Amino acid sequence: MNLVLMGLPGAGKGTQAEKIVENYGIPHISTGDMFRAAMKEGTELGLKAKSFMDQGALVPDEVTIGIVRERLSKDDCQTGFLLDGFPRTVPQAEALENILTELGKKIDYVLNIDVDQDILMDRLTGRRICKDCGATYHLVFNPPAQEGVCNRCGGELYQRADDNEETVKNRLHVNIEQAKPLLDFYETKGYLRNIDGQQDINKVFVDIESLLGGLNA
Ligand code: AP5
Repeated sequence: MNLVLMGLPGAGKGTQAEKIVENYGIPHISTGDMFRAAMKEGTELGLKAKSFMDQGALVPDEVTIGIVRERLSKDDCQTGFLLDGFPRTVPQAEALENILTELGKKIDYVLNIDVDQDILMDRLTGRRICKDCGATYHLVFNPPAQEGVCNRCGGELYQRADDNEETVKNRLHVNIEQAKPLLDFYETKGYLRNIDGQQDINKVFVDIESLLGGLNA
């Protein structure tokens, strides 16, 4: 099961990725998470990524493609993978085609979580994440049982540095610009499947599951 999860910032990629990974046991490859981990470790990659992420800009293609190439070559991707937030530009999508050809693999589906732009600001500024296990919540749409505390592991919840209103505006602008050509690229290849991301979180996953069921059949 080789999947790509697409959608504008706040569309619900991370939320649905948690469920897909739990149900299908494939590795979750999120370029955003990889950059944040590198920033936390203070590596050269992390320092480079931070300068772009703090402004809501995209990290340059050559950096991003390099880390994905390395990650997809690891043994745990032999039986499948879930790419989340990559590719985000047509050059990244073309590079991914080349990487997968080299590895003898191909994409099964590109799942595009489709959400109206005007609700994304609220989703992002209200998002909270567990410091320990990374579970995602929302102050209004998906609140934890106890304020500030993760339901799953009891960890402390925090707000991502790039979830402030000004940075979110820029992230949305940058990603909206890239989205159309990327969707056209995958539509032409026949991989694209649109998922209605404005339903309740569990209903979105039901739609994803019914699509993925066809892969196992
Ligand atoms: P990344 O971490 O990938 O962020 P993003 O794409 O901006 O997406 P998000 O993680 O913000 O949103 P999401 O779709 O995962 O939404 P979520 O499920 O959390 O990238 C961060 C940065 O890294 C980029 O800006 C860039 O600088 C860099 N980067 C990463 N990849 C790159 C690449 N390929 N090339 C270049 N640069 C790259 O949900 C959001 C909120 O909504 C949550 O609170 C959730 O609880 C709630 N929610 C989710 N679903 C629903 C629903 N159905 N109904 C109601 N609420 C919902």
